[in-house]
Amino acid sequence: QEKRLLEGKHVLVTAGATVERIDPVRYLTNDSSGKMGYAIAEEAQRMGANVTLVTGKASIAAPAGVTVVKVESALEMMEAVLSRLPEQDVIIKAAAVADYRPAEQAEHKIKKNEDEMTMRLVKNPDIAQAVGERKKPSQLLVGFAAETQHLETFAQEKLKKKRCDLLVANDVTMEGAGFGTDTNVVRIYDSGGLVEALPLMSKGQVAARLLALVADRLGKGR
Ligand code: C5P
Repeated sequence: QEKRLLEGKHVLVTAGATVERIDPVRYLTNDSSGKMGYAIAEEAQRMGANVTLVTGKASIAAPAGVTVVKVESALEMMEAVLSRLPEQDVIIKAAAVADYRPAEQAEHKIKKNEDEMTMRLVKNPDIAQAVGERKKPSQLLVGFAAETQHLETFAQEKLKKKRCDLLVANDVTMEGAGFGTDTNVVRIYDSGGLVEALPLMSKGQVAARLLALVADRLGKGR
C-alpha cells in the first residue's frame, strides 16, 4: 500500500510552450512537447494532490483528473499563475516561456511585399521570478533550466535570481534528455548545491523522484 505523499496539497504546474502572436496566422514559440510538465501533473495527482495544470502549446493530451487552464502567451500564463498563487502549496514551472514577444501584433495577416522586414521584440516578464518575489515562506517553488553548457553555474544563478527552492537542470545536448523525448537526465539543485543527480529515466520516473523531494520538504518551516 503506497502512501499518498501529497494528499490534500495544492500543486500548480506550468507546462508546454508559450505562443507569441505576430499576426493571426503566425507566431514565435519554443521547443517543448509539454511531456515533462504533464508527467509531473499526472504524478502529483496520483500522489493525492489537487493539481492545476497551466499549459501552453503541447503535443500530448492533458492527464485526467487535473484542472487544466489553457493559455497562449507568456502574459496570459503569468496572469493564470499569479491569480491562483495564494492557494498553492507547490508551484512547479516546467513551461518553456518565450523570452521575447513581438512588440506589436498585426490585426491582419502580414503580406510579403517587402524584400526585408524587421520585427521589434520586447522582453516577456519572468513568471518564475514573479512567483519567487510574491511567494510565502511555506510555498515551495520549483524551476527548470534547460542548458547546453555550464549546467551547475547557470542552475545556481537561476535558483538565486528566481528564488526557487529547487531547480531541475537538464543538459539538452545529452542523448535521451530534453525536448520531445520520453526520457530525461536531470540534476536537482537547492541553494546548498547538488541534491540529486538522476540517471537516464522516463519523465514519469523523474516526476516521481522530484515530487518525493518536494513532499519531504513541504512544511519543514523554511
Ligand atoms: O531563464 P530560463 O528561461 O532558462 O529559466 C527557466 C525557468 O524559468 C523555468 O522554470 C521556466 O518555466 C521559468 N521561466 C518563467 N518565465 C520566463 C522565463 C522562464 O517562468 N519568462
